[in-house]
Amino acid sequence: MSSQNIYILGIESSCDDTSASVICNNVILSNVVASQKIHEEFGGVVPELASRAHQQNIVPVVHQALKKANITKAQLSAIAFTSGPGLMGSLLVGTSFAKSLAFGLSIPLIDVNHMQAHILAHFIKEEGFNQPTFPFLGMTISGGHTQIVRVDDYFKMEVIGETIDDAVGEAYDKSGKILGLGYPAGPEIDKRAQLGNPKAFAFTKPKVDGLNFSFSGFKTAVLYFIQREIKKNANFIEENLNDICASIQYTIIGILIDKLKLAAKQTGISHIAIGGGVSANSGIRKALKDGEQKFGWTTYVPKFEYTTDNAGMIAIVGYLKYLESDFADQNVMASARLKI
Ligand code: KG4
Ligand code: ZN
Repeated sequence: MSSQNIYILGIESSCDDTSASVICNNVILSNVVASQKIHEEFGGVVPELASRAHQQNIVPVVHQALKKANITKAQLSAIAFTSGPGLMGSLLVGTSFAKSLAFGLSIPLIDVNHMQAHILAHFIKEEGFNQPTFPFLGMTISGGHTQIVRVDDYFKMEVIGETIDDAVGEAYDKSGKILGLGYPAGPEIDKRAQLGNPKAFAFTKPKVDGLNFSFSGFKTAVLYFIQREIKKNANFIEENLNDICASIQYTIIGILIDKLKLAAKQTGISHIAIGGGVSANSGIRKALKDGEQKFGWTTYVPKFEYTTDNAGMIAIVGYLKYLESDFADQNVMASARLKI
C-alpha cells in the first residue's frame, strides 16, 4: 500500500450499539459492534442504561477495531464520529471520546450525520455489491428511522418523506409485543411470515398524504384486532401466529412499496437504495427485486453489517469528508435532532 492511504477511525454511539471501525480509503478493515443486550428485558431502549453501557464499551471497542485492522493510533489520518441524530446521553459518549482522541493525536476531527451515514454506507467498497449512481432514492428503515431521501450527490440530499410518528421497525416490534414475541420482534415476524398466508387477515393501511408515513395507528389496529379475536377464541394467537405475522408483514411492506412507487413517480428516479435494520426483511427484499421487473427499478441492498447501526458507515462518511477537507473543530456539539 502506498503512503497515500487514508486511515479513518469511525465511532458510532447514537442509540444502543457502541461501534468502532477502521477504514482505509473506501475499504473497511474492521467494524466492531457491541450491542447492548440489557434493553431486551425492557422491550425497548432505555436511554440512561444506553449511555452507561457506551461508557463501559467504548474503550475496548475502539481498541479491538484498531487491533483487528492491524494499525496503530499513530497511523490514523482522522477521527470521525456520529454527532446526531440520536439519544443525547449516548451521542455525548462518542462525541467526547472522539474529540479527546483527535486532540491528543493532533489529527482532524470529522462530525458525521447518522442518517446521511445510513445512505452513504452504500459507498463502502465490497466485492459483490454495486454502488448506486446519482441521483438515487435512499430509504432508511429501522427501529429508529423511516425516511425517503433524494440523493443527488454525496452531500446533496433532501428528505422527501418520513414518518410522522413511529418508525417501521417499531411497527414490527410493537406488533410483536402484542403477540407475546421477544424484543426486537422484526426477525421472528419475518421468519413466521414466510410460513403463513399474507391474505389471512386484513389490516387497513394508514392514509398519510404524500411521501410521509405513519405507523402508530397500525399498531393500535393490530391490538384491537387481537383483543377482538381473543374474546372469541382464547387460543387465537397460538393457532394463527404464522398467518397473523404474514398479514402484518404484507401490510407493512405494502405501505413501504406504495410510498417508494410514488417517490419514483414524483422524482423520475428509478435507482433505489435501502438501509437500516428492516432492510434485512425478506418481504422488502423480494418486493424490491419484483420492482426491478415490474417498474424498471435498479435496487441496492448493502452488506447486512453495514445496514444496522455500525461505525463502518461513519468511517466511510469520514473518508468522503476527509477528501473535501470538511473538518469539525473542538467546539462541535452533539445534536439529538440533527437533520439531513
Ligand atoms: O438498524 P437497527 O439495528 O437499529 C435501529 O433501530 O437503529 O434496526 C433494528 C430494527 C428493529 O426494529 C428490528 O425489529 C428490525 O430492525 N428488524 C427487522 C428484521 N430484522 C431486524 N424487521 C423486519 N424484518 C427483519 N428481518
Ligand atoms: Zn440508525
